[in-house]
Amino acid sequence: MIRFIDDKDEKRKISREVLEALKEWFEVDESREQFIRESADQPFWAAFENDVPAGFLCLKETGKETMELAVMGVKKEFHRHGVGRRLFAASKDYAAMKGYSFIQVKTVESGMYPDYDITNEFYKSLGFKELEVFKEYWDEANPCQIYVMSLKSAVGVISVRHSYRGEFSSEPVPREDLMTIANAGISAPSGCNKQTTDLVVVDDPSTLEAVKAVIEPPVAQTAPALIVVLTRRINAYRDRCFAIQDYSAAIENMLLAIVELGYQSCWYEGHITDDDRICDKIASVLGVPDEYDVVCILPVGKAKDEFHAPSKKSFSERVKFNAFGDK
Ligand SMILES: Cc1cc2nc3c(=O)[nH]c(=O)nc-3n(C[C@H](O)[C@H](O)[C@H](O)COP(=O)(O)O)c2cc1C
Repeated sequence: MIRFIDDKDEKRKISREVLEALKEWFEVDESREQFIRESADQPFWAAFENDVPAGFLCLKETGKETMELAVMGVKKEFHRHGVGRRLFAASKDYAAMKGYSFIQVKTVESGMYPDYDITNEFYKSLGFKELEVFKEYWDEANPCQIYVMSLKSAVGVISVRHSYRGEFSSEPVPREDLMTIANAGISAPSGCNKQTTDLVVVDDPSTLEAVKAVIEPPVAQTAPALIVVLTRRINAYRDRCFAIQDYSAAIENMLLAIVELGYQSCWYEGHITDDDRICDKIASVLGVPDEYDVVCILPVGKAKDEFHAPSKKSFSERVKFNAFGDK
């Protein structure tokens, strides 16, 4: 279990317990003590196995756009349990949600010490890319390898997108951002290029209120903007209609653009297309013609609450190479 730790004493206790068990990496008393001291003031995640701290990670801001993975330690008996990966995923979500563009991490260059070779391989397996080696940043025996990861690349954004259902801040979303998001939506592929998806972007306060008023039970009530997704169920060829695929691709593109621009959202389709047909009430408020169906709403805004990434099945449960089972 991964937990965000607020209490400074608890942070110091956990970081001491873990780092003192990892003297191969943290052998210099002075720098270890410094890591422990500084960890108390940093965003801090701990991993627990049977209530025992298995590892921790903390971040520090190194520039307006960049967070550094300041220190991470996982006790040796928990190596290869996925603890480091889960800690990193939680911290990456946090950095992305706070609007940072990059995460960097420093370690001793590969080829110097076997323990650090493992660390380098681990960072690369998380998706970090080599930025530069500073030979004398620490000292000649410990050349400093800097790794960096973009949180705004397509793959980076995909990995930090989650459905957000919490409160939004009242900060308005600038028109240019809404246009960028809508443009991402209409740039999606569509079957036979029929472009069956249209959008109504709602940012005018009184229209927003009118739309929100028909969403009962209420969702997205604090969002400063909403994107309403419309579809025309026309055939792409013969009797093949790809309207669902078309609007799904458009929605996913918009969700990714929303996260890249530092906002959050959720794909609300089930809620509004259920038996009570909130979608039809929204269509009526917005004057949508009969040949279009409202299929989804996407709130857009800055998140006020934390979100929790849902647990997903493991990669190997869902992805196979070359054959589904044993041939
Ligand atoms: C077709 C579709 C309909 C959805 N409808 C709703 C909905 O009505 N209400 C809601 O809270 N989430 C809805 N979601 C969001 C899913 O619940 C969410 O994607 C899923 O739990 C996985 O979480 P994640 O988006 O954080 O990865 C919908 C998602 C899809 C793809």
